[in-house]
Amino acid sequence: MEGKRNRAGPGGGGRIDSAIAAETFRALIHDAPLSIVAFDASGIIQLWNPAAERMFGWTAEEALGKPHPIVSEEKQEEFRALREVALKGKTFTGIQVRRRRKDGSPIDISVSTSPLRAADGTITGIMSIITDVTERKKSEETLLRLATAVEQSAEIILITDPSGAIEYVNPAFERITGYHRDEVLGKNPRIMKSGMQDHSFYEELWKTLTRGDVWSGVFQNLRKDGTLYEEEAVISPVRDAGGEVINYVAVKRDVTNERRVEEQLRQAQKMEAVGRLAGGIAHDFNNLLTAITGYADLLLMDLPEGELAHREVLEIRKAGDRAASLTRQLLAFSRRQVLQPKVLDLNQVVTDMEKLLRRLIGENIELVTSLADDLGHVRADPGQIEQVIVNLAVNARDAMPNGGRLLLETSKMEIDESYANRHDPVLPGSYVILAVTDTGVGMDEPTMSRLFEPFFTTKEVGKGTGLGLATVYGIVKQSGGYIWAYSEVGRGTTFKVLLPGEEEVAELAEKEVAYLYPSGGEETVLVVEDEKLVRDLVREILSQHGYDVLEASRGTEALEVSGRHKGPIHLLVSDVVMPGMTGPELARRLTALRPEMGVLFMSGYTDDAILHHGVFEHGAEFLQKPFKASALGAKVRKVLDAHSHETG
Ligand SMILES: Nc1ncnc2c1ncn2[C@@H]1O[C@H](COP(=O)(O)OP(=O)(O)OP(=O)(O)O)[C@@H](O)[C@H]1O
Ligand SMILES: [Mg+2]
Repeated sequence: MEGKRNRAGPGGGGRIDSAIAAETFRALIHDAPLSIVAFDASGIIQLWNPAAERMFGWTAEEALGKPHPIVSEEKQEEFRALREVALKGKTFTGIQVRRRRKDGSPIDISVSTSPLRAADGTITGIMSIITDVTERKKSEETLLRLATAVEQSAEIILITDPSGAIEYVNPAFERITGYHRDEVLGKNPRIMKSGMQDHSFYEELWKTLTRGDVWSGVFQNLRKDGTLYEEEAVISPVRDAGGEVINYVAVKRDVTNERRVEEQLRQAQKMEAVGRLAGGIAHDFNNLLTAITGYADLLLMDLPEGELAHREVLEIRKAGDRAASLTRQLLAFSRRQVLQPKVLDLNQVVTDMEKLLRRLIGENIELVTSLADDLGHVRADPGQIEQVIVNLAVNARDAMPNGGRLLLETSKMEIDESYANRHDPVLPGSYVILAVTDTGVGMDEPTMSRLFEPFFTTKEVGKGTGLGLATVYGIVKQSGGYIWAYSEVGRGTTFKVLLPGEEEVAELAEKEVAYLYPSGGEETVLVVEDEKLVRDLVREILSQHGYDVLEASRGTEALEVSGRHKGPIHLLVSDVVMPGMTGPELARRLTALRPEMGVLFMSGYTDDAILHHGVFEHGAEFLQKPFKASALGAKVRKVLDAHSHETG
């Protein structure tokens, strides 16, 4: 003992007294935080330390001298195989297996083994050192789940270091921005800056973040291809256990599409509301203007030309005409005018207008047309389509004060479901497109967003009314079409008008010939109009033309008047929109009783019900309010003549 102790002294070898060694090993095994278990070649437990008692629930007493308790029935085979390998002298380090506790709950453990040898070196058993990795495995699984969620998230997730350098982006980021992650790692997110946010925006952002708060807001950023997109972002600081900010995490959602759809809806609602208002006003004004200009016409007939009073009434008449033209535009915008659609060849319309357009745009603007072959046809009111082209051409002219080029193009286009989905609110189908392009001053964003509003103009007072495009919009919409504007400041503007294609070509419109009808007659005319001012005027004009006039203020009354009247009624002149029975309804009921009777509608306004029933598409004659006395006279004569030919 003494000698050995001396040899173990300072400067001696590494030998430890065997008694001390035994005590050390015992203490180690007893107090180790790791489970230490030993078993013999047949798997019978020889050693079971207190840590193993705590880890698995069996006391040493329960475990010793029995087969390894932690191996469940179905793991016996696996255990036997491992044991066999270990008995051949192999050591295992940190293999992970699933075992069970005494209470039956599963436990994930990491096991390291070494063989136990007898004095002669033969392996008699195995010692294993076991750590519980259940918690670690759980947190690994949680981490994996988190990582998967982040990777597969539809929203952009971007992580930077405290200086703002990008450390991580998820696949959604790559998909939405077009950048590959290798292109952005280590860079600052400012590479996506669009310049749409000013300096103070970023200052505010950083102030919030460095204060340790969460920032949320909307970015207009640039994709790799240079296109703008809008993202809703929430950026939060991430802290370590010590409270130090170690990362920033941004979660962002691409809302470009959503915003576009919202904006379109907002625009459509705005136009709808303004349109309703404009339509209502125009309706009432039309009746008043019909009376004003109509009576002025009657006065003019009575007053000798050259007299002062004649000239003065002429001024009233002119003012009335101007007002009437304004209300006509308002009606067009509100889609409440009565269209008289015909099957048209748009190329023909454009060709016929070339001369007029050239005169309109002046010498220093070049007019170029590019018309597609076999364009097909559209169904629209020719007068209204001409109005569309004139308004667009005049705007183009005004945008090119120093000359330029005006291009009118026609083309055909099939819009399929997928295109329609991307360009709501277009419906799929075949369309004929008219594009009007100028090389003028172009428009900025604020102008573009209000373009079609009535009374929106950037022109000087007195130069523009702001009704041009509102009219165009109304006509195109009412014809079942769409209109889009593309513009770049300083470069020019294109307006694209889409009109639904028309299959039937049977009744290609003939050019209307303006006959000069002798306007008088002696037939009997029934006038039905709820607005007294207008009814009186019509009666007055028709009486002056020699007709016998019956009148009624509404449908039911008209039926009564007709019932009482013994002689023939040659013509019904009726308003369209009236309280109670509508004009077309009245006409149906009266012509059933009096088949010899012709029908002429007059209106400044129509509602959807009447439009959709297409009353005017089937040859009914129609006079737009307000009208001139001479126009009413001529139209009445024309309908009477046409009808007497038909009925013999
Ligand atoms: N081709 C174009 N190029 C540049 N700006 C245009 C063009 N067309 C329209 N605009 C802008 O849109 C505004 C509205 O046009 P709109 O035709 O409705 O009214 P306006 O031309 O001003 O007046 P109005 O047509 O009633 O005489 C114009 O004032 C102009 O600012
Ligand atoms: Mg205009």
